[in-house]
Amino acid sequence: MATLEFADVTMTYGSGSTRRRALLDVSFVLDRGAFAVLSGPSGAGKSTLLKLILAMERPESGSIRVAGRDIQRLRKASIPYLRRNVGSIFQDFKLLLEATPLENVALSLQILGMRHREAQARARRALERVEISPDTRRATRCLSGGEQQRVAIARALAGEPAVLLADEPTGNLDPRLTKEILELLAEVRLRGTTVLLATHDPQVMSWADCTDFLRLQGGKLMEHRKTLDGVAAPRASDEQAGPVLMGAVA
Ligand SMILES: Nc1ncnc2c1ncn2[C@@H]1O[C@H](COP(=O)(O)OP(=O)(O)O)[C@@H](O)[C@H]1O
Ligand SMILES: [Mg+2]
Repeated sequence: MATLEFADVTMTYGSGSTRRRALLDVSFVLDRGAFAVLSGPSGAGKSTLLKLILAMERPESGSIRVAGRDIQRLRKASIPYLRRNVGSIFQDFKLLLEATPLENVALSLQILGMRHREAQARARRALERVEISPDTRRATRCLSGGEQQRVAIARALAGEPAVLLADEPTGNLDPRLTKEILELLAEVRLRGTTVLLATHDPQVMSWADCTDFLRLQGGKLMEHRKTLDGVAAPRASDEQAGPVLMGAVA
């Protein structure tokens, strides 16, 4: 089943003499449980593509469907639909640094309308999944870069979104932490969330156990390659859908 669909999406910034085309006729489909790497040099349009999925920018033409719904047709009142269905991790984690990890994750759920008790319970489970103690009373500011990144991932996953977007999430991390984050993202997909990871880093591309490899250049999708055979939507119970290492991509 498709979770994320782009059909002939074109996006232009600015107007008149400052017009700049960021994406041109981009089409692709990602299945439920896909782990897609979106590659391309700086300026290729990767962040723009992710912003369109979050409705932070609007396409000039074409359509984008998230979990079966055309997001341009969503009225303002349904934007919470997107916030629930799409989780995101950006390079600057946008965490509340004075709050504890548990507060960071629970608050984000309460903002989506979840009651305090359920938000706390879900936030605890999400933090345990990324191996951050939910009981720590330390301010998030006191955590290491890698730990803060895991809190950001827990926050993005706590609402069990259909799609998880990660924009250069390993930017400033050392190789060991980068591998840890990539392993976490590979696990996330096994629970049925579709992961879209934007990176310009060849090292990250070669380490990610992805099912789909997409390459953007100058706003055009030059390549969409399935990197695992028969990527049927894996189920959480599907033990055999284990990671398969993909070779380095030039
Ligand atoms: N807010 C903006 N206003 C105008 N142009 C932008 C804006 N954001 C990005 N661009 C331009 O759109 C193109 C794609 O940028 P971006 O999506 O950030 O690429 P990437 O994430 O692959 O580095 C670039 O040419 C960039 O300069
Ligand atoms: Mg970018």
